[in-house]
Amino acid sequence: MTVDVLLGLQWGDEGKGKIVDYLAPRYDIIARFQGGPNAGHTLVFEGKKHVLHTVPSGIFREAQLNLIGNGVVIDPITLGRELDELTEAGVEYHDRLLVARKAHLILPTHRYLDKASEAAKGKAKIGSTLKGIGPTYMDKTGRNGLRVGDLEAADFADRYAVLKAKHLELLKIYPEVEFDLAAEEEKWHLAIERLRKLRLVDGEYYINNALKSGKRILAEGAQGSMLDIDYGTYPFVTSSNTITAGVCTGLGVSPQKIGEVIGITKAYCTRVGSGPFPTELFDDMGEFLRKEGAEFGATTGRPRRCGWVDLPQLRYTIMLNGVTQLVVTKIDVLNKLPEIKAATAYEMDGQETDQLPFDLCDDTCKPVYESFPGWEGDLERVATYGMLPEAAQGFITEMEERLKVPVTMVSTGPGRRQLLEKIQG
Ligand code: GDP
Ligand code: IMO
Ligand code: MG
Repeated sequence: MTVDVLLGLQWGDEGKGKIVDYLAPRYDIIARFQGGPNAGHTLVFEGKKHVLHTVPSGIFREAQLNLIGNGVVIDPITLGRELDELTEAGVEYHDRLLVARKAHLILPTHRYLDKASEAAKGKAKIGSTLKGIGPTYMDKTGRNGLRVGDLEAADFADRYAVLKAKHLELLKIYPEVEFDLAAEEEKWHLAIERLRKLRLVDGEYYINNALKSGKRILAEGAQGSMLDIDYGTYPFVTSSNTITAGVCTGLGVSPQKIGEVIGITKAYCTRVGSGPFPTELFDDMGEFLRKEGAEFGATTGRPRRCGWVDLPQLRYTIMLNGVTQLVVTKIDVLNKLPEIKAATAYEMDGQETDQLPFDLCDDTCKPVYESFPGWEGDLERVATYGMLPEAAQGFITEMEERLKVPVTMVSTGPGRRQLLEKIQG
């Protein structure tokens, strides 16, 4: 068996949570492979909205196992809060939620360091979610981190004290950052007791044994490919590999084991936080997309920046990920528009190009737009792909032809049922 991958092709919030929840019944295991509580994955069903940060989006489906893989960074406090919400929603998670021992832990002081680092950057700040992601991955690569498996070691308290002391020294560089460590530490220590009681596994053996025994696995990405630490709009990125390659390191599977790669894109584009965004709209149209698309962060509540879909950008992330199928979400957000635009190329130094420059902040790079007819009607009653207005189908066909990847699903609303499967003919 192989591991199928589902990930975002833009700057995050493409609707990954919704699609994972929809596809979950086709798999035995859903596994998060990177990122942490910077993610906010929204699921809407039976009139209720659920937002997941660390727990994989298969948790609401009763038959599926959910693994938090070794590439993920876990804040026990946020995880604890998510578990409480699951209990409130009547979800029995204990036997179906597994945590890889090699996943790293976010300490309260990692969050303070995140805050301090952003404050010190001033106007050049990344716009981090301030969940401690960057400092935790820094400790991982700096070989100082604490892992879930360390919770089982006799000297865990000593190791925690050493890392905390190191962080407090570092925080002295930023005296303006205030924090109440004692209160947060108390919560953290209570939360790690809960984490210890979850099903801790050696993730790499677990996944490979599952594959051998014929289990179907879906790897759930967080963030988006344009936020990848290596290939995103550096330095305005997150600190993990959000692309397909991250599945191999983040779950411990070999590249030969990767199967389908399902890439998600909105029918337009958004970004939250700082950094370049070539097709961003600063006018009424940007405001229209934000309002129609309810574009406010699922983790921080910040307004998302909005713009047209960017085909050179998507070709880039399709290339990086080896995308085999596309899912287009939030097409309903465009319902009222007589005309839809897409960037189909970039212009640099008077020449049209399909290639993203070294630095997307480069002012000489301008998107070239083409217009497509809108459908000016709502999609409420559209139950099959064939029922979509002709202009909406036309827009999807243009995307397929220009991106050279088949679109297999189109999402027409936040609800679980608002999804059209497109049969390939
Ligand atoms: P994720 O991080 O990729 O899982 O995406 P988020 O949950 O952060 O953001 C996507 C938002 O769009 C959520 O509020 C979803 O409920 C909503 N959503 C998902 N698909 C659709 C869609 O097709 N149409 C509309 N209008 N909303 C959608
Ligand atoms: P999901 O999984 C959108 C952005 C932040 C910031 C940058 C770095 O819901 O798609 P970090 O906290 O990682 O240090 O922030 O990355 N960012 C996201 N933007 N969706 C996300 O996750 C994001 N996770 C991080 O806004 O610009
Ligand atoms: Mg999100």
